[in-house]
Amino acid sequence: MPRQTIAELLGRIGVSGLAAIRRRIGAGPGRNPGSDGVSNLIAAPGSSVLSVIDCGTGLIKAVVVEPEQRGDDLSATGQVRVLGVGVAPSPVTSAIEVDPGELLTSAERALREAEDVAGTIPRRAMLAVPSAQTVVALGEGTIIRFSPSDPITRDELAEAMSLARSAALAKAREYMREDRGDVSDLRVVSAALFSIIVDARSVTEAVGLTGAKVTVSLAVATTEMAVYRNLRALAQRLDLELVGVIAVPAALGSAVRANVPPSGAVMIDIGAGSTTIARIGQGGTELSLSVPIGTNALEDHLVAESGLTSSQSRETLNHYVSGDLGKISRSANRDHVQRVAVFFASVWRDAVEVRLAELARERPLPPLVWLCGGGARLPDLRGVLTGPAWRSEYFDQTPVVAVLGTQDLADLCGEPERLGLLHGSVIAPSLALGIAGIQAIAPTDAASSLVSRMQSA
Ligand SMILES: Nc1ncnc2c1ncn2[C@@H]1O[C@H](COP(=O)(O)OP(=O)(O)OP(=O)(O)O)[C@@H](O)[C@H]1O
Ligand SMILES: [Mg+2]
Repeated sequence: MPRQTIAELLGRIGVSGLAAIRRRIGAGPGRNPGSDGVSNLIAAPGSSVLSVIDCGTGLIKAVVVEPEQRGDDLSATGQVRVLGVGVAPSPVTSAIEVDPGELLTSAERALREAEDVAGTIPRRAMLAVPSAQTVVALGEGTIIRFSPSDPITRDELAEAMSLARSAALAKAREYMREDRGDVSDLRVVSAALFSIIVDARSVTEAVGLTGAKVTVSLAVATTEMAVYRNLRALAQRLDLELVGVIAVPAALGSAVRANVPPSGAVMIDIGAGSTTIARIGQGGTELSLSVPIGTNALEDHLVAESGLTSSQSRETLNHYVSGDLGKISRSANRDHVQRVAVFFASVWRDAVEVRLAELARERPLPPLVWLCGGGARLPDLRGVLTGPAWRSEYFDQTPVVAVLGTQDLADLCGEPERLGLLHGSVIAPSLALGIAGIQAIAPTDAASSLVSRMQSA
């Protein structure tokens, strides 16, 4: 029996009845008393702390974040402080049909761990759209003005943005259609502004300027409406107030934006069930597509090839990626594991290549590749990217391939023990989600607040 996808499981959660897990009642007056007798308390109404949950196919990750306040200046573009991170295995890692209640239990576990480290229980949450259900695409919108000498109004800028949004959405729909046939209603998860051009000038604020033509480029992250509804149900069952949804590839692009060179970068998030590959420019993620292949496929292949159980296979792979080959059991000797990993890398390569070709369609890929997600640990996948064939076909120079770390994420702060660094490359996308979650709630300038209005429009 094939494994379920996280999206299928989310679709079976349902909203009827009492919340399965009465988190707040369970929390009572506070839980997890420290040595000083102080307990975690539910955040006060109006508090700015937020939980962000990513229900991945392999791991459920939760982060508790808050905006970092710099003195009294609340309008300054602030950093995002990570207060705690929690991780729990997802129940869909086995090929057995999973009860949706198990997903709730795992999500609750990850969340509780993050809350315990944070010492607070946020009421509000943002949920991440499953990576395999997200497409990010860029669109352009232009308005021609009949009175070029009149100042450009906010409504005119909004109209150009709205046209750009429609163009981006149409592109995203096209990609989704190629993938899974007909797609039902789409929902815009987030929108990122790339450029505003008035006549031939690139500007940051168009309102009040004069000109004959205003062109806006923006990228939207989209998902199917049904996915959004399922996330709302999950939040309800977890007794959380859902303040929005976010998409991992868009969050990653905006989190690294400040560190992206002018030529851009490629981000490859290798998860358990899917690989998401994105082209990132200085405005964030321009295009992001995914393929349904990740570390679960390697694990399954090892099970089939060596007769190991699923958990033995995972343990063996953990030893393999950490270079601890001596600990690999006799039933799965190191040469065998390596052969399986090399074979998997070639299958992964073929699957990812189609997307890479799409990303490189108009111009060669930038020679900087960041890897993240659990599969970033596999040396064989890293090798594929720097191999001679891809180098010449998609990149015009040998790319630097680096594992995404906290130093690459802008606007992030927090004590090292609260950032979940022990989890390595697996946690970087969740930290990016934490940053994006806070930034989505509090847009910092006029153009971004217009953009954020696009999301729900
Ligand atoms: N610290 C860790 N604990 C457990 N598994 C880990 C850890 N680090 C890496 N892994 C591996 O990474 C996989 C999960 O990676 P990741 O969290 O990126 O996937 P996911 O987000 O759950 O999947 P997807 O994005 O496809 O839905 C696990 O299945 C496991 O093989
Ligand atoms: Mg993931």
